[in-house]
Amino acid sequence: MNHLLDAFESIYQHNKDLRVFYSPGRVNIIGEHIDYNGGLVFPAAISIGTYGVVFLRNDRKVRLYSANFIDQGIVNIDIDNLAYDENHGWANYAKGILNLLINKGYQIQYGFDLYVDGNLPTASGLSSSASLEVLMTYIADTLYKLNLTRVEMALLSQEVENKFMGMHCGIMDQLIIACGIKDKALLMNTATLEMEASNASFDGYQWVIMNTNYQRKTTDSKYNQRVRECSQGLKILKEKYQIKYLCELSIDELPYIRKLITDDTIFHRVSHVVTEQNRTIKAKLMMKKNDPIGFAQLLNESHYSLKNDYEVTGIHLDTLVEAALKYGAIGARVTGAGFGGCAIALVENDKIKHMKEKVKEIYNKKTGLNVEFYEVTFENGVGEVK
Ligand code: GLA
Repeated sequence: MNHLLDAFESIYQHNKDLRVFYSPGRVNIIGEHIDYNGGLVFPAAISIGTYGVVFLRNDRKVRLYSANFIDQGIVNIDIDNLAYDENHGWANYAKGILNLLINKGYQIQYGFDLYVDGNLPTASGLSSSASLEVLMTYIADTLYKLNLTRVEMALLSQEVENKFMGMHCGIMDQLIIACGIKDKALLMNTATLEMEASNASFDGYQWVIMNTNYQRKTTDSKYNQRVRECSQGLKILKEKYQIKYLCELSIDELPYIRKLITDDTIFHRVSHVVTEQNRTIKAKLMMKKNDPIGFAQLLNESHYSLKNDYEVTGIHLDTLVEAALKYGAIGARVTGAGFGGCAIALVENDKIKHMKEKVKEIYNKKTGLNVEFYEVTFENGVGEVK
């Protein structure tokens, strides 16, 4: 906390009336690429995330500085000019939120000085961008006394990602970052936005996050392509089924769906969506039954489906997952959008050390890159740090 306040002061040369906020990252345990198909997902907010120190000004200037993008220095903007600007990099998230709030008629009178510092690896599948968006929305809600609910904050943040940043993501990341609950994961129905807190751990086991440190520049365009492929599938199926979302279909329908969808790629995408929904429903039961082995099996099936039907894994993620399973993990899978980024593994406590050593060695040998591990706790959603 003191380090953050000092850092703010060294950038802006003042330190009066500062407020500090924290917005977590997220890990998704199961239910991948189905939050834009009305599916059930199972994410948790985590103990790595984004901090923001803020001072409310009495003019309409906004000054933004991120310790994660120091090359950009202080980005100076104005509340009356909030158009997207490529040169503003990360600061576009802040502009997008203010822009949207103003367009929706919220009163935003004054600007602010903001210092941001995060310990989430960027573009790694742990939602550094949603963490920043929701942080901005929460700060705006607090400074301007907007009285938004947490679900509204998530929806506004998602709208900025979709319309201002051009990434057609679902609601999962923003919703868990806004609504996370300490020591729990949330089962979220993305069709209705109903949420149920659930235990997300098994005695004797630990979740280990493994970062490929491999970032594909085309993640957003590939992601949007998957979203499009799903809507093509939905369009075809709507001619026969009365459905709003792909996740309303049951796996028993797949042989018939195969006949309706002649395009192989589209069929594989739909097949992933329908089976992933089924796995997430089963995962909920396994968690209730306290069955780590059954749960882990679903994680492995999920990865297999994301690799073969949805094609969002690749050699980096596959190598990590295979090595983890070989050396102690009982289940492992990509988490988040994929195409690089992170995987998670469920590992017995006394096997973690050995697993990490082996995974590190194998991964480096195969890819030339170094894996990073994070053992996180599950935390509350965005809030002010007192
Ligand atoms: C990204 C998106 C989410 C979700 C995941 C995949 O994190 O932002 O909405 O679609 O990918 O499950």
